[in-house]
Formats: sequence, C-alpha cells, structure tokens
Amino acid sequence: AAAVIVANTDDTPIQATLGETPGVVPSASVTRTDGGRLAARAGTPVTLTLATTIRQITSRNVVAQTRTGDPAKVVTAGAHLDSVPEGPGINDDGSGTAALLEIATRMGASPPVGQAVRFAWWGAEEAGLVGSTKYVEGLSEADRRAIAVYLNFDMVGSPNPGYLAYDGDNSDNVGEGPGPPGSGVLEQVLVDGLAAVGVRAQGTDFDGRSDYGPFIEAGIPSGGLFTGAEENKTAEQAQLWGGEAGRAYDPCYHQRCDRVSNVDQVAFDRNVKAMATGIGRFGVSLDGIPPR
Ligand code: PHE
Ligand code: ZN
Ligand code: ZN
Ligand code: ZN
Repeated sequence: AAAVIVANTDDTPIQATLGETPGVVPSASVTRTDGGRLAARAGTPVTLTLATTIRQITSRNVVAQTRTGDPAKVVTAGAHLDSVPEGPGINDDGSGTAALLEIATRMGASPPVGQAVRFAWWGAEEAGLVGSTKYVEGLSEADRRAIAVYLNFDMVGSPNPGYLAYDGDNSDNVGEGPGPPGSGVLEQVLVDGLAAVGVRAQGTDFDGRSDYGPFIEAGIPSGGLFTGAEENKTAEQAQLWGGEAGRAYDPCYHQRCDRVSNVDQVAFDRNVKAMATGIGRFGVSLDGIPPR
C-alpha cells in the first residue's frame, strides 16, 4: 500500500505499520494519492512517503545598496535567508544573514567608499540556489559587468569551527577539501581579515555549493568565508584552532538542532570582523581585481 502524509506536524519517522503502532505517526493524517481510503487491513506494513512538494511558495531576495560610491563598480556581499525544512537554520545561514545586517547598519561615512556596496539576502538557497540564480539571470549585461566582486557568507558560526576562505582563482584545492589558502586577492583579503583577529585560516573547495555559484558562472570574481558543515575537523585543524578532531564542524548541519545555541560566538565574532574587513577593503579599493 502506498500512502502520502498530507499533514505532518512534527518530526516523527515516516515508517509505520498501519493501525498497529499508534504514536509512531500521531499527527499525520494518511490518505491515498487518488483520494480514497487506505484499503490495507490493520497491521499491514506500509511505507509512508512524505510529499516533498506540498504547496508552491513565493520567496524573495532583499537587496540594499549604499547611496555613495561608484554604482558602475559594485561590491556585493550576500547570505541566504532560508533554511532547510528540517531545521531553523541559525548557523545555516542565520549567521551570515545577521553578520551582513550588522555590517550594513554599522557602515559609516569615513573613509568614503569608492565603490557602491550592495548587500543581498537571498531567498531559496536550499532549494537549489534559486534566489541568487534568478538574480544573476535577471541582470542586464551592463549590470552584470558593474558587479566588481561578490563575497558570500554561508555558515560563519559553526560550533566546531573551521576557519576557511575560498575564491575562484586557484584550482589547487578544488575537490580536495581544506588546504593551504590560495593566492587570489579575494581569498587573501579574507585570510588577512582573519589573521587580524588572530586566526590562521585555510582554503577550502570552491565547488559552487552556495550562492556564489551563479556569480562565478557569470564571470564575476567571487569568494567568501565558511566555518564548515558536515565534514570532520582534522587533528591538525584541532591543534591549530582548538575544538574537536574527528567531529563535524557543524554536527547540527541541516538538522532541527541548528538553533541559536548551535552558533559558536567566538567564531561568529571573528568572521563578522573579517567579513567587515573584506567589504571595507573592496569598498575603498579594487586593487588586485582585474577589470572586466
Ligand atoms: N550552501 C551549503 C548549505 O547551505 C553550505 C555551504 C556553504 C557549502 C559554503 C559550501 C560553502 O547547505
Ligand atoms: Zn544549508
Ligand atoms: Zn547555507
Ligand atoms: Zn583562492
């Protein structure tokens, strides 16, 4: 018997024996996809398949830009607003979202920015980079060329933090996980920003797994900071940064426990400062960024 859960109000498992295990799916109402009643006898094992598309929802990007600075050379920084359905997404990516908001509200008038600075909060990242992809696709040729750099901040307060920077200049660590930082200016500025708060950062894969993906595809120089997700911290990294070797950077990655207590405040604070350094540096000077 195939069945679909049409309303599931808690995190109960979706395997059940019909009519025999009350409490396994206590708040699920079960119906056949054709609308009929389940014909199976009580006690018949069924596999309940959670419907993944229950309804269509509208998601939005939120974009704000300084009134000052050259709008033909825009420094853009982004984080995503949404989470996976399984959890509240406080590290992923409430951390990047909050960091960006704090930096935006604290940006002062001195020194004046040379470039306009654009802050972007993306919708529907977890659904496949939807918000950032639509945004980049919607740019005119002139608008696309006007974006000098894109800085991405997705997961910047992991509880067993790595200090990882990425950009697209170097192929040396792509597909190999964390390694020595590359020599690209974007990555270098972020690595320097972390060095200023006493942290020796490493480089990490530049695999397009977050909202910078559509930007690099459009030929816009991109980079960002990341404190790690489901992968394990190595022994060398634990020696360098503290924390626990052989344990995930974020054991609550994409889970219900990704709540406020899941954010490491020290790692978060350091990353906010390094992000602010990066945004400030490129807002004042595009030295090292090739003109397009
Ligand atoms: N984008 C991933 C997520 O939201 C996490 C991630 C961030 C991966 C940064 C790589 C780099 O689940
Ligand atoms: Zn995620
Ligand atoms: Zn994310
Ligand atoms: Zn690099």
